[in-house]
Amino acid sequence: MDVCAVVMAAGEGKRMNTNHSKVVQWAAGRPIILWVAEALKGVGAKEQVYIVGHRQEEVRAVLGEDVAFVLQEHQLGTGHAVMQATPFLEGRNGCTIVLPGDAPLITSDTLRAAIDYFEKGDFGAVVVSAIADNPAGYGRLVRDEEGNVQRIVEDRDATESEKKIREINSSIYCFRTPLLISALGRIDAKNAQKEYYLPDTIGILIRDGHKVGALVADFDETRGVNDRIELQQVGKILNGKICERHMRNGVQIIDSNTTWIDDTVRIGKDTVLLPGTMIRGDTSIGEECRIGENTRIDDSVVGDKTTVEYSVLRNCRVGKNCRIGPFSHIRPESVLADNVTIGAYVEVKNSNVGDFSRARHLTYIGDAQVGKNVNFGCGTVTCNYDGLDKSACIIRDNVFIGGNSNLISPVTLNENCYIAAGSTITDDVPELSLAIARSQQINKENWVVKKNRLRAAKLIQPDRRREGV
Ligand code: UD1
Ligand code: CA
Repeated sequence: MDVCAVVMAAGEGKRMNTNHSKVVQWAAGRPIILWVAEALKGVGAKEQVYIVGHRQEEVRAVLGEDVAFVLQEHQLGTGHAVMQATPFLEGRNGCTIVLPGDAPLITSDTLRAAIDYFEKGDFGAVVVSAIADNPAGYGRLVRDEEGNVQRIVEDRDATESEKKIREINSSIYCFRTPLLISALGRIDAKNAQKEYYLPDTIGILIRDGHKVGALVADFDETRGVNDRIELQQVGKILNGKICERHMRNGVQIIDSNTTWIDDTVRIGKDTVLLPGTMIRGDTSIGEECRIGENTRIDDSVVGDKTTVEYSVLRNCRVGKNCRIGPFSHIRPESVLADNVTIGAYVEVKNSNVGDFSRARHLTYIGDAQVGKNVNFGCGTVTCNYDGLDKSACIIRDNVFIGGNSNLISPVTLNENCYIAAGSTITDDVPELSLAIARSQQINKENWVVKKNRLRAAKLIQPDRRREGV
């Protein structure tokens, strides 16, 4: 059957209280409209039309070029929104599936089930409904004594007894396309919100004598996001599903409430994720790694058996069996080979670091080519920026750099050389040599006594800011 999809994404989203479009707000690592688009991919709709209006430029930017857009200049309701798509629908005889742009939990399986049900039952329309514990805010399916759908009533137009109905309208429908066009031509805005309601088409089709069915889905899948509380709720549900998928694949997640993983991330077996970890974007983590606690990894590759704790990694590649953290920052374009140690308060930027090299503490490695088995003493700084240009530092295999050394780039430290602690290196160092670049020490004997500078210990006052006793 010819299937056409219409997604409503023009609304103002008043309840979200935002300057932006509601449907570009993020839940679990993606704008919510992209979750809907992702579910739609599995449906195989020939035509996909997105109704845009409020902050349309944002919605278009997120969805890209592959779909069609129709402008709803004034947001006069969901029925009015779908009317704007009629030029796309005219002349078609199959199924039009309509979805709201604010229901990110819907799955391809449920959309396909709705289309299958529609195709098999000779329906004029099928509504996807769900049973909600708390249906407040949703439209309700009104059924007759025999259980046949009669119409949909909006929460704000419902009588007290209709408000008690727990079967809600998900705002996902399959219509026989010509019947949708015909019914849309007959809806009005005589209701509490003075809007053209798409759900009114259901009552119209039934009155015309067409068969309308309801497919009851899982409520969670139909949740709409209207405010920031619902945005948080669906974000947690989506993230929970992603975490479960990884756990089934053999990843140990200590606390999925505080572990956030984008849908796009790949993680190997027997890797453990500790609390407070975010793994985002195009990231791939190997097997038997230990990530966290409190770590963020964006768009990076991490090899097997590597540990990363209390650290931030962005756009970098880390090899196997590395030790990163605590409190390390691996910045874009950095490539760490295998068995590398990057320790506390070490930053690496746009550098390659070879096998078995170590920077255990308080070091900056920027724009550097570092060979194998290099040791960075505590407080080594590659001085790569002179205020105008960035320069490269080349450190070859087996170099030992003593603590608190400055390497003024461009400079090369050749194989097997040593840098004495406290040196400021401005010239290349030949292989197998020791470079010492620091001023000579003078000891002024008995200076403290002569100057009366003996030091006494001071008492520390208790911290009174703490609440309690
Ligand atoms: C709608 C349904 C309600 C259903 C609920 C499910 C109507 C009148 N009500 O209510 O029965 O239970 O969804 O979540 O349809 N939009 C436009 N143009 C407009 C108005 C809205 O494109 O003029 C878009 C919005 O961007 C949004 C979607 O349509 O993505 C739904 O609109 P919203 O205002 O959230 O409808 P609800 O009040 O949730
Ligand atoms: Ca909604």
